[in-house]
Amino acid sequence: MCEPTFFDVSYSINPWMDPSRPTSTERGLAQWKTLHDLLVELGHTVELVEPVAGLPDMVYSANGATVVDGRALVARFRYEQRADESPAYLDWFRVRGWDARQAEYVNEGEGDFLYAGDVVLAGTGFRSEPKARDEIREFFGKPVLGLTLADERYYHLDTALAVLDDNEIMYNPEAFSPRSRALLAERFPDAILADASDAAVFGLNAVSDGLHVIIPQQANRLPDQLREHGFVPIGIDLTELLKGGGGAKCCTLELRARH
Ligand code: ARG
Repeated sequence: MCEPTFFDVSYSINPWMDPSRPTSTERGLAQWKTLHDLLVELGHTVELVEPVAGLPDMVYSANGATVVDGRALVARFRYEQRADESPAYLDWFRVRGWDARQAEYVNEGEGDFLYAGDVVLAGTGFRSEPKARDEIREFFGKPVLGLTLADERYYHLDTALAVLDDNEIMYNPEAFSPRSRALLAERFPDAILADASDAAVFGLNAVSDGLHVIIPQQANRLPDQLREHGFVPIGIDLTELLKGGGGAKCCTLELRARH
């Protein structure tokens, strides 16, 4: 995770970001801390990357890399406003002895690449390039399921779909192209389908440890849907960070060690 010390919305690279609307760094920090402390309370080890002045989006650490089996493919950002985050993440991994390199193609890390069991779900449409899928497949040696995003409000895969455990996912069908919708329905017939209003409060930008699922407290039907599937939903308020177009998952990069 990356503390939002420099959080601000000073430019717009997604439909949620409106630089004319006031933001509070203090509120962003407090909300982020709630998420951080909750993860610690749930027994997870949280590592921190140092925030960099002038990189207000660095709090969305999910975009920094994709990490599987102790190897990290570090992001190559689509927009120049975030480009300098890549060296910061690359350094973080290298200094700690992780096998890491930067992606060659535009690749926004776990924003678009979600590891589900033994397949990588790969989103394109707005940020990561289609060629990034092949790069991911080669780098990790895992099968990749390509998915196309079709609604600009859900510009990263992790704003439209969350992996709950090795077999279960939840998603917003309306965010995907018809072909991708069909692929998802076939591959995950028992998935939780979120409605448009839960998607709009970033209900799918959830962090799951396989049991607890951290979702926005503003979600309406999702908590019951999750309980019906045996999960324990925990609602928190991240509305300040939503002004930058991110929620709980965007603020969390999962470090999967080698096993
Ligand atoms: N403002 C950031 C951007 O547009 C938000 C990133 C959200 N992160 C995510 N994993 N979806 O790039």
